[in-house]
Formats: sequence, C-alpha cells, structure tokens
Amino acid sequence: MNFAVLASGNGSNLQAIIKAVSAKTIKAKLVLVVSDKADAFALERARKAKIKSCYINPKDFPNREAFDRQVIGQLKEAKVDFVVLAGYMRLLSPYFIKQFENKILNIHPSLLPSFKGTQAIKDAFAYGVKVSGVTVHFVVDEMDAGAIIMQAPVVILPKDTVESLSAKIHKVEHRIYPQAISLFASGKLQLNGRCVRV
Ligand code: GRF
Repeated sequence: MNFAVLASGNGSNLQAIIKAVSAKTIKAKLVLVVSDKADAFALERARKAKIKSCYINPKDFPNREAFDRQVIGQLKEAKVDFVVLAGYMRLLSPYFIKQFENKILNIHPSLLPSFKGTQAIKDAFAYGVKVSGVTVHFVVDEMDAGAIIMQAPVVILPKDTVESLSAKIHKVEHRIYPQAISLFASGKLQLNGRCVRV
C-alpha cells in the first residue's frame, strides 16, 4: 500500500511516521508529502528523507474544492491508497473526503469529542481538565468527528503549562500515530458505523 502525508507545519509527526516506515513498523510506502505552506518544515523533513514532496499554493485556486482537486491529482499520480493528515491546517472538501472515503486518518491533540478545533491543547488547559490526550480518527465531513481509531491519555499536573502540556502531547502523538497507521495499513481495522475494531 502507498500513502501520502499532508502537513502544514513543523512535521514532527511526519518525522515519527518516516521513522516507523523505515523501521518497517508501518508496512506501507510513504510516496508523497504535500503541503499548503511553502515554508512548512515538514517539506524539509521529506526532502531529507528523499521522499517526493510538493507545495501547492491555495491562492492559485478559486475555492477549496479546486485546490483539493489539484492535491488529489498529485495523490492519484503517486498511486496513493490512503492519506494521513499530520498537522494539516486546511479543512478537506466533501469532494476530497468522498475520493478517499474511510481512507483518511487524522491526529488531534485532545481526547475527542472534547476540545475539537484548532486550539485543542490551549482549550483543554484553560478549561482545567486534569486528563487530556491524543486521538487518531478517520476524517469525515464534520470537523474532528470521524470514528475514533486510537486514543491515549495525558495527565495534566498542577505544575504544567500550555508548553509542557504540548510537549507531553506531542510525545504521545509520535508513539500512537505510527501504531494506528500500521494497524490501518495492514488491514486490521474494521469500521462498523461509528466503531472501529481491531
Ligand atoms: C499535532 O499536535 C497534531 O495533533 C495537530 O497538529 C499538530 C502537528 O504537529 N493536528 P507536527 O507538525 O506534526 O509537529
């Protein structure tokens, strides 16, 4: 199986995925990294690992779907079977999601369904929850609402700050995202309505 990673930023999850692919813990080929940000460090990481990468500028397209059609063109050309979002800061169009139905994974830095959205770590910290965590889920039209594949908790201690919480969350992400991708790639995930079983 071939897959692509879509990333907009630092790409520390991408790095963990690259490591798991080269260690063969993920038995699939990472054939393409796509970014919507020219300066995404994720692109640099892809280049270093000799993985094909491309930057597509959203400003070159009239709307979300037109942009996504361009991305999908690249994915199809690279013969991608499934898609992994890793810090990809754009909402996918319904068109994109239909093209890769139940074949798009995302990682979110909270225990969904709590703290959806782009500020999950800050929101959880500000709310004062004592346990937050990480969720890997399938992507559906509604944001952060797809079936949950894997979750892991992160305890928030009195001494924690948003920064220390972020660091703890990232560490857990780097552990569980490769695991979840590995299960998906080896066909071990069964999706039954809202429920994913291994
Ligand atoms: C991660 O916290 C992930 O949960 C969220 O975006 C962040 C990406 O970090 N979706 P990185 O670019 O992989 O370092």
